[in-house]
Amino acid sequence: MSNFVRGLKCRLCGKAYPKQPLNYCEDDFGPLEVDYDYAAIREAVNRGKIELRPFNMWRYRELLPIDGEPTVGQLVGGTPLVKAHRLAEAIGVKNLWIKNDAVNFPTLSFKDRVVSVALSKACEFGFTTVGCASTGNLANSVAANAAQAGLQTYIFVPHDLETAKIIGTTVYGAKLIAVKGTYDDVNRLCSQVADRYNWGLVNVNLRPFYAEGSKTFGYEIAEQLGWRTPQHVVSPMAGGSLIGKIHKAFHEMHKVGLLDREPKCKIYGAQATGCNPITAGLKAGSDSHRPVRKPNTIAKSLAIGDPADGYFAIKVMRETGGWGEDVNDKEIADAMLLLAQTEGIFAETAGGVTLAVTQKLLAQGRIPRDEEIVICITGNGLKTQDAIANIVEQPVIIRPNIDDFAAVLDGAREPVLV
Ligand SMILES: Cc1ncc(COP(=O)(O)O)c(C=O)c1O
Ligand SMILES: [Zn+2]
Repeated sequence: MSNFVRGLKCRLCGKAYPKQPLNYCEDDFGPLEVDYDYAAIREAVNRGKIELRPFNMWRYRELLPIDGEPTVGQLVGGTPLVKAHRLAEAIGVKNLWIKNDAVNFPTLSFKDRVVSVALSKACEFGFTTVGCASTGNLANSVAANAAQAGLQTYIFVPHDLETAKIIGTTVYGAKLIAVKGTYDDVNRLCSQVADRYNWGLVNVNLRPFYAEGSKTFGYEIAEQLGWRTPQHVVSPMAGGSLIGKIHKAFHEMHKVGLLDREPKCKIYGAQATGCNPITAGLKAGSDSHRPVRKPNTIAKSLAIGDPADGYFAIKVMRETGGWGEDVNDKEIADAMLLLAQTEGIFAETAGGVTLAVTQKLLAQGRIPRDEEIVICITGNGLKTQDAIANIVEQPVIIRPNIDDFAAVLDGAREPVLV
């Protein structure tokens, strides 16, 4: 396979760097990004060629920064875009879709997309030990994909994560380091780890490559809509990377000839009020995010107080004509139930955030009710069951006989003799 990557370049000053495991510019500490030869990609891809490939994220391989064949996560992506009729009716809109990465293979979140690229790249660079700083989903994905690739793994998380996300990491044999601190403390520690040990940390020294994986979430949305973009996309934000990559994906598709028209999609960001650095910055009219020192929300996967891509996320929301909002824990849990009970999709807390923010933006008139909306569901509810355990209906317990059941149906539920 030919390679369309020229190298890395600084997102602030544009300085070029060769392909290497490095995430910041030596001159101004700006984040580095992959630099592609789009003219060559335009020659190499077309819709027909992509449609003939298996429906997973690697059908967009020319737009991903690996040199050879993917060696990790070959089956990731290709998740459903669900036309959500019942949810649309419930929230009062005409045309609604859910991009459902709650069923992404293998660890049930969109993080499998970024990890496939990062670990394929880690193997190319010759790393034998990999790791990450994570709010949970990335931990699960790095652990699973590294296990399949036979890599050693060190994973760093805040100590107070959900049990399902802890066990969903250690089950794969990863060494899990639970740090007494916030995600930002964990992230700082990981930068020191990357400096001291020669490891491939997917969201530290491999970050420019890692982040590119999220673009496939956007490519799939546009292809599944029939090679066009919707009018509105609502994305959850933690580090603020995914939202920018969806935007980048749409524009790249136009640049390389996969979309006929210049994308006009408005992009909206969703956060929890208990950790809203990006939406607070946006709403205050600031260029950058407002760090939150002590996040406090049930949406732990989005609890990043000092997001690496906060500045860029705000820029995307402003420049596309979108907006951002945040919602409280009750709104998050209620939205998780609404999604489950209208569409049969059990999303994690981040999904509750995204749906509840969509409802808020509709109520504010920021998103028109008669236009096309895609909601990004990025993680699975089985990992965050505690968030709704107290508000779902309890099972009716009966003795194993038909009269007890009939009494339940009559509404005369008898007290059970246990
Ligand atoms: C389920 C889920 N959705 C969304 C995000 C946000 O992604 P980003 O950090 O790219 O903003 C995360 C990040 O951890 C996540 O776990
Ligand atoms: Zn620079």
